[in-house]
Amino acid sequence: MCGIIGYIGTNENTEEIIINNLKKLEYRGYDSSGICLFDNDKFYIHKSLGEIKNLTKNLNIKIKSHCGIAHTRWATHGSVSLNNTHPHLSFDKAWCVVHNGIIENHLDLKKELLEKNIKLNGETDTEVVPNLLSLQSGTILEAINKTLKKLEGSFAFCILNKNEKDTLFLARKNSPLYVAKNSDEVLASSDPVCFGEKYEEYFSLPENTICVAKKDKITFYDFDLKQIKVKATKVTVFEKSATKGEYNYFAEKEIDEIPHVLNNIIKSYGSINYFDKIDYKFLHNINNIKLIGCGTAYHACLMGAKYIQEKTDLECSAHIASEFRYSKPHIDKNTLCIFCSQSGETADTLLCLKLAKQKKAKIISLVNVPYSSIARQSNILLPLCAGMEIAVISTKAYNAMLFVFYMLSLHMYNILKHKNIDVIKKLKRLQKVNFFYNINYIDDISNVVLKSEKIFFIGKGEDYVSAMEAGLKLKEITYINCVSLPSGELKHGTLSLVDNKSLVFVIATKKELLSKNLASASEIKSRGGNIILVTNLDINETSLKDVDFVYYFDKCCEDLASMISIIPFQMLAVKTCLKLGYSPDKPRNLAKSVTVE
Ligand code: G6P
Repeated sequence: MCGIIGYIGTNENTEEIIINNLKKLEYRGYDSSGICLFDNDKFYIHKSLGEIKNLTKNLNIKIKSHCGIAHTRWATHGSVSLNNTHPHLSFDKAWCVVHNGIIENHLDLKKELLEKNIKLNGETDTEVVPNLLSLQSGTILEAINKTLKKLEGSFAFCILNKNEKDTLFLARKNSPLYVAKNSDEVLASSDPVCFGEKYEEYFSLPENTICVAKKDKITFYDFDLKQIKVKATKVTVFEKSATKGEYNYFAEKEIDEIPHVLNNIIKSYGSINYFDKIDYKFLHNINNIKLIGCGTAYHACLMGAKYIQEKTDLECSAHIASEFRYSKPHIDKNTLCIFCSQSGETADTLLCLKLAKQKKAKIISLVNVPYSSIARQSNILLPLCAGMEIAVISTKAYNAMLFVFYMLSLHMYNILKHKNIDVIKKLKRLQKVNFFYNINYIDDISNVVLKSEKIFFIGKGEDYVSAMEAGLKLKEITYINCVSLPSGELKHGTLSLVDNKSLVFVIATKKELLSKNLASASEIKSRGGNIILVTNLDINETSLKDVDFVYYFDKCCEDLASMISIIPFQMLAVKTCLKLGYSPDKPRNLAKSVTVE
C-alpha cells in the first residue's frame, strides 16, 4: 500500500535520508515511487516505475535542499505510469502533494476542475487535490482546510507550498500518518518503523487532523482549525526490530522467529493480564461470536472459531471482512465481535469494527502493531507480540494469532464453565516442541512442487484451515495456482482434476480423523496423483500404502498441533519462490497493509 515520507533537516543529505526512509516502507508493497525536493520556492520532482533502486539510479537533482516529500505508489486508480506516480503538482506549480488513501468523489471533483479549464495529467484520484488547493482563497492553512472539506473517502497527505519554506503540512482522515521531531529534524511517515533509529518519540495524527510541522515546532489543528494537543508516543523496540540480521530475506527470518514469538507471548501474557476485562460480566450475555479478518488473518479467525466454539459451546463463525459488512450481519449487544489483524490498518477490517461499534457489539481485537488504528479503537486489545513483520507474506504473525486465540478459548472456558485452567501453562507445553522444519526434505519437496502441473492441499477440521493457509502462502509468493479444500469435498467435484501430474498435500494432525484422510489419499492414488502426507501422528506402515512421502513434524499434544503444522508449508513456499528467482519479501501485486477498501 502507498507509503509517505516527509522530511525537514539541516544537512545537505536530505535526498539520501528521504530515500533511506522510503526504503523502509518498501515492505508495504508498491509499483512506482517519486520524490520532490524543495528549494528556493521551487519543487524538483523525480519519479520512476518499479523498485526504488530505479528512482535512485537516475536521480540527478543537483540542489542542496533541506526539505522534501516522497511516496511509494501501489496503483489503485489508474495504471502504473509516471503520470500517475506521486508527488503531484498543481497547475500553477504552487502546491506539491503525496497521498495515501482514496478520494471517493474524485470524478465529481475532476469535473469541477475541468469546468475551470484545469486539465489533469494522469488518472489518479490524488491529482485533484493540489489543483483544488491552488483554487482556494485565504491563508495556506485555510486553503488546506477548505480543500479537505471537499474530499470524501480516506487520506493521509504530506503537502508542500512554494511560499512556505521548510514546512510540511500533514493531514489525516481514515489513513495512518505519523510525525517525529528531534533537535534539528522532522520526519513524517506512514509507519513509525522509520523512527526507530533516530527518534525517541513520535506523534500519531488523530482522525480529522491537520499538522503544521516545522523544524522547531509541530502544531496540530482539527478541521475547524482549532489548535489541539496530541500526546507523544515513545519509540519502542517494536519499531527498532526491522532489520534482516544475517538473513537474506525477512520471510526466512520471520519464520525462524516463531519460537521467539511463542516465548514473547508467554512472557508478556504472564506479566500483564490482558484477559482481565474479559470477565463473567462481559461474557455471560453473549449468544454468538463473530471473528473477522482478511487474508491470513481470516484463516486465523477460522482456526480461532474452531478453538472457541469447542471450548464455549457458543455459536462461533469466521468472516471475511470485505464480505461481512455487505452480508446484513446480525449484530447486537449480545454479539461478541473479535477482530484479527497483523497490521491493524486493514481498511476492510477497520470498517467492520466501526459497524460493530455502532451496533453496540462487544469487541475484542487481536493486533500485532500496537499503535495501529484497530489497536487504538478497541476497548479490549490482545497484542500478538510477534515483533515487526516486514515480509508481505504473513508468517510469524499467523502463528501468534493462533497462540493467542488458543489462550483466549481457554480463558473463555474458565470464565463460562467456572474452571481454573492455567492458560499460560497450557501454551507453555509448546515450548518443549521443536518447531524447526527439515530443510533438506523441504528442498526435495519444492522440486516435486515445481515438476507438478496441479497442486492441491487437503485436510479435515483444523487441518483444512491449515490447508487453506498453506495454499495461500504458495500462491502469494510463487504465483503457482493451487487449490485447498476439505478432504471430504474432493470427491464432490475437484477429484475430476486429479491425474498423474497432480501433487496432493494431505495434512493430518488428528488421530480420530486419520482414517478419513487416508481414504481421501486412496481416492487420489487411484487417479494417479502423487501424495505427500504432513503429520506428527504415529502411523503404521501398512496404512501408508497409498502415500508417496510422509513429512513428519515434531510430536506434541493434539490440541497444539494445528498451531505449528503450517511452519513447513511457510518454508516450502519460500524455498519454491527462491528457486523460481522471485523475492519472498515482495510479491508482485500485493501489499502488506491494505488501507483501502
Ligand atoms: C494483505 C496482506 C496479507 C494479509 C492481509 C490482512 O492482503 O498481503 O498478507 O494477510 O492483508 O492483513 P492484516 O494486517 O489485517 O492481518
